Amino acid sequence: MSVWRVKPVSAFEADMKKNDLKRVLTKWGLTSLGIGAIIGGGIFTLTGIAAHDYAGPALALAFVIAGIGCLFASLCYAEFASVLPVEGSAYAYAYGTVGELFAWFIGWNLILEYMMGATTVAVAWSGYFVKLLHLFGIEFPIWLCNDLSTATEKYTAAGMAAPDFAFNLPAFLITWVVTAILVKGIKEAAKTNNIIVVVKIAVVLFVIIVGAFYIKTENWTPFIPAEVPAIDELGNLTGKMNFGFGGVLTAATIVFFAYIGFDAVSTQAGEAINPKKDVPFAIVASLIICTVLYILVSLVLTGMVRYDQLDKAAPVASAFSGIGINWAVFIITIAATAGLTSVMLVMMLGQTRIFLGMAKDGLMPGFFKALHPTFRTPHKSTVLVGAIISIVAALTPIDKVSEMCSMGTLLAFAMVCVAVMILRYKKPELERPYRTPAVYLIGSLGVAFNIFLMTQVRAATWNFFMLWGVIGIIVYFVYGKRNSNLEKQGIE
Ligand code: ALA
Repeated sequence: MSVWRVKPVSAFEADMKKNDLKRVLTKWGLTSLGIGAIIGGGIFTLTGIAAHDYAGPALALAFVIAGIGCLFASLCYAEFASVLPVEGSAYAYAYGTVGELFAWFIGWNLILEYMMGATTVAVAWSGYFVKLLHLFGIEFPIWLCNDLSTATEKYTAAGMAAPDFAFNLPAFLITWVVTAILVKGIKEAAKTNNIIVVVKIAVVLFVIIVGAFYIKTENWTPFIPAEVPAIDELGNLTGKMNFGFGGVLTAATIVFFAYIGFDAVSTQAGEAINPKKDVPFAIVASLIICTVLYILVSLVLTGMVRYDQLDKAAPVASAFSGIGINWAVFIITIAATAGLTSVMLVMMLGQTRIFLGMAKDGLMPGFFKALHPTFRTPHKSTVLVGAIISIVAALTPIDKVSEMCSMGTLLAFAMVCVAVMILRYKKPELERPYRTPAVYLIGSLGVAFNIFLMTQVRAATWNFFMLWGVIGIIVYFVYGKRNSNLEKQGIE
């Protein structure tokens, strides 16, 4: 059946030869992009809720669990990146191995990862930006920096009448700023990103080193607080557990978001100077660096402040205001605002490059591969992606978009683990500058882990996810299958 047709490796090689993008990224430039994509809302915001409600001081353990699962996926990504160093991420890898429909479906889910990821971070950015303005004595109206349901919650909690209209203006505007940077070009984007990554790592190290002096070891006891049934805001049992080992697993699914982004490196292969070696290196290196930093930050945070006293909205900054180092709060808030910008930059860049890969294969309209005559960037696609993200970010609550992001990512990770094993089996002779160690074991563990985390997500998210999948399959049969380059070449 033609839906299982596979893009030949020779076609990937031909794509690489006629690559129109500028090759400017080095090994550490790519690693920097990876770190830029990884450290963001996860560590700066989600750590609060994960420790406060689910893991307690075992937040660090939750990061270890989520990190190990991501490591399996990253080792599989790295082998693929070394075999098929083209832009398009998991989508391209699946196209070269399992088949067109499977690849399309991955690409369709990557839209959730990158677009919803960037949307989530735009909303998180808005939160930090408003906090920053507050530190300077400027107050933003609630209805102008939240979606309607979040604004309604906040007005109601303050005993005020709910608004008829709300719009997250900072989230909307930051998306357009990032869009403009991306249209101008990857080189400028990479330079901006490098500066922000340095600031971000510096502030994370600052938190670890300075915070270490304020650790009270008694805050780490009990390391895993005793299990209690979780209740929702209406007082009903949710069927989940807070704390205990079950709570730690739930916390792992929450902080999983903090690791998303290492795979964005693979979408930059088209701009890498030496993709076969440097992309696998950057994928694994950026993930390992962030894992170590996350574990240390978790230990410091839960050591500085008792887990049940941690602030859920801005835990890192608040830990320092709690011990009276107010100047540190300024620095952390500014760095978080800048750091979240760089996450958006890489996620939106990744999205446009996936569309570019799909459009080159004929599975998406030519619109997505049109390059700007001077900047050589896919400007039309970038503006469209920016428009969608800005509107969704302005109107949607953060938890809805972050869960969709995680679902798309988990499925894409699981699919990559399957695909790398299939490729080893079907084409053992292929040149692999990087080989996943014990591939069948690591690949199987990667699949099991990522599918398990998907089962932990709310039912409402699953319904939307299914709907998204059905729409994707319809679009494939109506547009992609008919316009695919392989179809035109008569490849079955
Ligand atoms: N890992 C990214 C973040 O934490 C998506 O914001």
